[in-house]
Amino acid sequence: MEKFDRNFIFGTATSSYQVEGAVSEDGRSPSIWDTFSTTPGKVMQGDTGAVACNHYHLYKDDVKLIKSLGVDSYRFSIAWPRIFPEEGVYNETGMQFYKNLIAELKENNIKPVVTLYHWDLPQWAQDQGGWVSRKSLKWFRSYAQKVFRELDGEVDSWITQNEPWCAAFLGYHQGVHAPGHTNMDDALKAAHHILISHGQTVNLLKQEMQSSTPIGITLNLSPFYPATKTLNNEIAANNADGYTNRWFLDPIFKGSYPSDMINLFSKYVHDFSFIKDEDMELIAVDCDFFGINFYNRQLVEFHAASDYLYRPAYSDYDKTEMGWDISPVEFQELIRRLRREYTALPIIITENGACFPDQITEDGEVHDVERTNYVKKHLQAIAELNDEGMNISGYFLWSLFDNFEWAFGYEKRFGIIYVDFENQQRTVKDSAKFYRNAIAARNL
Ligand code: FCB
Repeated sequence: MEKFDRNFIFGTATSSYQVEGAVSEDGRSPSIWDTFSTTPGKVMQGDTGAVACNHYHLYKDDVKLIKSLGVDSYRFSIAWPRIFPEEGVYNETGMQFYKNLIAELKENNIKPVVTLYHWDLPQWAQDQGGWVSRKSLKWFRSYAQKVFRELDGEVDSWITQNEPWCAAFLGYHQGVHAPGHTNMDDALKAAHHILISHGQTVNLLKQEMQSSTPIGITLNLSPFYPATKTLNNEIAANNADGYTNRWFLDPIFKGSYPSDMINLFSKYVHDFSFIKDEDMELIAVDCDFFGINFYNRQLVEFHAASDYLYRPAYSDYDKTEMGWDISPVEFQELIRRLRREYTALPIIITENGACFPDQITEDGEVHDVERTNYVKKHLQAIAELNDEGMNISGYFLWSLFDNFEWAFGYEKRFGIIYVDFENQQRTVKDSAKFYRNAIAARNL
């Protein structure tokens, strides 16, 4: 019996900086990730995205590989500094790459799902304050407008922003992602502007362009649980949830920031006047779907010395190589909670996948049993959720390739296709074969 109906979209995903390489070709200017990754000590082994999977040059062969998986759709992102290498200066050659890629996908019957921002902010924008500056709204608007003018009609769905929490909080508060700031004030402003940029982009497409192409935003969501059920640990879990999930879910679906978090954040941020009433209306704009990237649940405990009174706690769950709990049951609880508390929009899992230390064995194959099991469990979870009427309409496996895993460089492999970074050779892993068969049968 088929577990997934014919309309369910199976896909796989990547992002521009993680796979493209060719960072100074055809007029592209540096992004904040070029700057960050070439700053000593920021990325493991000093890795950068300069070559990555060389997808910029190998895209035709790569589309053949995508095709061989039998997926319905491919999610990728556009590198903003290819399109606007300088403020106000459009680069047609940069755009041509995406036109070619989209044409190749469509020729192969693969639906392009395109993310406008997956973290590679042009360095010229960062030099003027980046997302901390309200000017980012103007810059992003002209970028999105140009992309829509050139590509709307060819694209199946648009995703405005990928994981604002990572872009804002990892980038501007924790400093572990580009641009590497460690300042909560900057992070809250960045998050706010990223969220507004989402709202204004949806309006741009729907109102100004009169387009009916589906558009939405993608959040990374991770459910937090108290290590033990003490009041203090419950507070810890609530704060962790506020910092990671509610700070983004509430404005998007309720039009306001959570007041308990405003109280907590005001320990470090004294002036919230950058949040204007009309902003909240924009952020809560109507979309066509809601994208979720899910990897793991997290266990936390109270910790008085931490900024927001929580820290990670010991968990005895099986883990991926990232140290992330494998937690399909908590994934289901997360989706049910979203349905209860936030939204009835169709949900697309825009990323889900796992990192394990793969190797090509003597038979020339990669037997990634653990990744295969991870994917199987999460697909099973989705099938069960849909039986309950949870309306998950698509699944994008992260990732098509082993690629530049941000601060971890090439050390961490998430691909269902193995990449040898010495010679760019691709090897289809067992997980990809499992996925191909599951898609073909619409079953697990
Ligand atoms: C997500 C990112 C993606 C990749 C995966 C492992 O947070 O969107 O680029 O790094 O995690």
